[in-house]
This record gives sequence, structure tokens and C-alpha cells, in this order.
Amino acid sequence: MERTLIIIKPDAVQRGLIGQIITRFEQRGLRVIGMKLIHVTRELAEKHYAVHKERPFFAKLVDYITSSPVIVMALEGPEAIKAARTTIGSTKPFEAAAGTIRGDFALTVDYNLVHGSDSPENGVIEVANFFTDAELLPGWERSTDKWIS
Ligand code: RTP
Ligand code: MG
Repeated sequence: MERTLIIIKPDAVQRGLIGQIITRFEQRGLRVIGMKLIHVTRELAEKHYAVHKERPFFAKLVDYITSSPVIVMALEGPEAIKAARTTIGSTKPFEAAAGTIRGDFALTVDYNLVHGSDSPENGVIEVANFFTDAELLPGWERSTDKWIS
């Protein structure tokens, strides 16, 4: 069982795509174990994107993710990292496959709608950066689970 942090980024919230994006993950079979609307602080954004600190686009990335509210979700499931990232699509939306979130709703890397953790280790770390234990319900019983995994 893996955990991934999904961020429905400011552009997706502003464009009214929250519902359609959540639906993609729900349909895939991933289980929501935490979800909330927040305005990401600069401190949290810099922590979340610390790996990109030396990249030329770091400042722009922090400005973007803190520009407006986001939905953060913690999802759980077998192979949740890869499953979520294939549902999201390639980082550069103009290359993303049709049927993925980015392939269907986005055009440029600067406004690529969604974040998903890139490894099981980072999934655990990122979920803990955005949620307290009290905000998570890991392993809650879903009546459809036996038909999904
Ligand atoms: P994410 O972390 O948001 O899920 O996206 P990702 O794994 O597909 O891409 P990553 O390499 O982790 O990059 C993080 C975010 O930085 C922005 N970016 N801009 N201008 C550029 O060349 C560039 N490259 C990356 C994107 O917002 C990307 O989602
Ligand atoms: Mg990434």
C-alpha cells in the first residue's frame, strides 16, 4: 500500500476543475484518506519544492503554488504513486497523453494543474508536510475495495 500527496493547483481551482480532477482519481480506485482546501504559505511551498531550490524556475514555482487556494488530498492504494502519476500525465502538458488530466485540460508546464508525489518515500514525507495525523483516516473500510484491489 502506497500513499501520495495530490495538490489540485491554483489554476485548476480557479478554472473550476476540482470536481473533474477528483473524479479521475476516484474512478481509478485510489482511496481518499485526507482532503482540504488551503492557501499554501511560502514557508510550506519552499519546503515542498526544496528539491527544485537551485532550478531557474524555483521562484516562479513558489509564486504559482501560493497565488491562490489549492485542494490537497492524501490518496492511498496499491502502486498509488505510479497510478496517480499516469492519471496526471507528463510534466509538460503539451506532451501529455490524451486521457490524462494534463493531456485533457492543460497546455503549458507553468500551469499544469496537479501535483503528485514521485516516489513512495516522498509520498509519505509530503503527506506528513501537509496533514496532521488527526486529519488522516488511513485504511478506512470502503465497501468497493474487494472489487478494486
Ligand atoms: P509535480 O511535482 O508538480 O507533480 O510535477 P512533476 O513531478 O511532473 O514535475 P517536476 O519535475 O517535479 O517539477 C515540479 C513543477 O515545477 C514546474 N516546472 N517548471 N519551467 C520548467 O521548465 C519547469 N519544469 C518544472 C512545474 O509546475 C512542475 O509541475
Ligand atoms: Mg514532481
